[in-house]
Amino acid sequence: MKITAKTKICMVIGDPVKHSLSPQIHNAGYEKIGIDRDYVYIAANVKIQDLADFIKGVKAMQIRGVSCTIPHKIEVIKYLDEVDEIAKKIGAVNTIVNDHGILKGYNTDWLGAVLPIEKITSLKNKKVALIGAGGAARAIAYGVTQKGAKLKIYNRTIEKACKLAKEFYGEAHSLNDIESIKNMDIIFNATSVGLHPKENETPIPKKLITNHHIVFDAIYIPYETRLLKEAKEQGATIIHGSEMFLQQAVAQFKLYTGYDAPEEFMRSVLLHHLSIKEK
Ligand code: ATR
Repeated sequence: MKITAKTKICMVIGDPVKHSLSPQIHNAGYEKIGIDRDYVYIAANVKIQDLADFIKGVKAMQIRGVSCTIPHKIEVIKYLDEVDEIAKKIGAVNTIVNDHGILKGYNTDWLGAVLPIEKITSLKNKKVALIGAGGAARAIAYGVTQKGAKLKIYNRTIEKACKLAKEFYGEAHSLNDIESIKNMDIIFNATSVGLHPKENETPIPKKLITNHHIVFDAIYIPYETRLLKEAKEQGATIIHGSEMFLQQAVAQFKLYTGYDAPEEFMRSVLLHHLSIKEK
């Protein structure tokens, strides 16, 4: 244990939060590059009604960085001193940096959406089918359109798809039109369908997936969702949700510490912990 009175605190807040793997991967990263004397990363279950008090605490305790997860990403914005332009456009903050008492909000989820795809192919002019129109979908819609993709949003509640499509210059569809994903290049699941404990569910019939698709699931528990398993069986290229989680954390690591995150090492730690969860 290298923590001293000078160690800066970073943390994740959520409700619930105990499933979060952020402490494991950030702390492993600190240790790997030898800054675990300077930084420590913890988690706290913060209720939405306690958010204002929590923010006062962040300033009082000079907490360096706060990662926000469900249900805080939108609500937290009103307590911040500054919000980065991208986070404003997305309408959600998953990262807060405390610079000498000034709290600035960022969003790194969109990087989690685009960087794993860009390792395989350019997004420019690609046809992206985004399934879902909730919080996660907003960051994905921003990210892929920012990189030049053409967006079609499919959602159970069509009104929500229309609203998102309008903001990000996409096309809105109901889930009844899902057949048309056949002609898309990339399929991105941003619904909660398939999430633990409902692992038997999938948002897309298997027969619509072909070997020319890239299928990316934002869900990372379970590690391999039914959607990804079936996509693999159909010969599609798959991207696990753990990559989205990893890349948003890698970007946070840099914002909190100023150091480049040891990405490979953090991935191995994440996959290790996900495999434990699967057992
Ligand atoms: P998150 O912040 O994780 O995106 P959210 O904002 O609650 O969570 O959004 C959940 C998304 O999953 C929504 O797009 C939701 O569809 P609706 O807008 O119609 O509610 C979608 N979703 C959840 N359960 C679903 C189901 N059983 N079938 C289809 N879509 C579902």
